[in-house]
Amino acid sequence: MSIKIIRLSKTYRSTQETGRTVRALTNITLDINEGSSTIFYGPTGSGKTTLIQLMSGILRPTYGEVVLNSIHTSQASDRNITRFREEHIGYIPQEILLIRDLTVLENILTPNLFRNETRKALKNRALDLLERLDMFNQRHVKPYQLSGGEQKKVMIARALLKVPGYILADEPVSELDQESANDVKKLFSEFQKKGSAIVVASHKKLQMRHRCDIYLIHKGQIIEYARGGRR
Ligand SMILES: Nc1ncnc2c1ncn2[C@@H]1O[C@H](COP(=O)(O)OP(=O)(O)OP(=O)(O)O)[C@@H](O)[C@H]1O
Ligand SMILES: [Mg+2]
Repeated sequence: MSIKIIRLSKTYRSTQETGRTVRALTNITLDINEGSSTIFYGPTGSGKTTLIQLMSGILRPTYGEVVLNSIHTSQASDRNITRFREEHIGYIPQEILLIRDLTVLENILTPNLFRNETRKALKNRALDLLERLDMFNQRHVKPYQLSGGEQKKVMIARALLKVPGYILADEPVSELDQESANDVKKLFSEFQKKGSAIVVASHKKLQMRHRCDIYLIHKGQIIEYARGGRR
């Protein structure tokens, strides 16, 4: 199990409206291995979201390769990439994406119901995650009745429910207070111990509970790397 990134570059094509191309990432090479923990931090616009979306197969490389286990996303079919993502990746997008008419609990359960598990088992795990994120009492409310940070916590619970091999979290704690951020970091740490690889993008340096590889990304390039550090 690994995600390999090989000489990866990503350019956003110009559109009629913008008339410009943007080089978002340049020549990135790194590996994400089973049970590892990695942080990408860097200023706004440095390419963190682009990198996370390339790793999840939502975006495809302009040059170079992203290899999800053995799937080269530059060539693979949408179907194969989607299947891999559904099975192995817990993606927490930067922006809030929840279904308006479903409750918190339903939002967490619905994308996971196709799994080979009983609804009861999934529901128990969902309730446990909500409890851990101090959201249990809000399990029956709709997303619009929650704050931005609370909505993000719902998205985190939704991504973790499948116990993914890879957790790709884009600014998971940026909008959270210290206590909520600590709850999330603690959960990530436990998932890492159980074998998930954790990948976090953040505009500021994050102090995680476990050792991580830390990459500083600037203008689409890795400009600093610390292996197994604590910050
Ligand atoms: N769909 C797009 N079309 C064109 N340019 C884009 C697109 N998405 C991102 N960009 C550009 O690519 C660069 C990297 O954007 P990205 O969202 O990856 O940055 P980021 O590090 O996640 O920033 P932030 O900290 O604000 O979330 C930016 O210059 C941005 O303007
Ligand atoms: Mg971003």
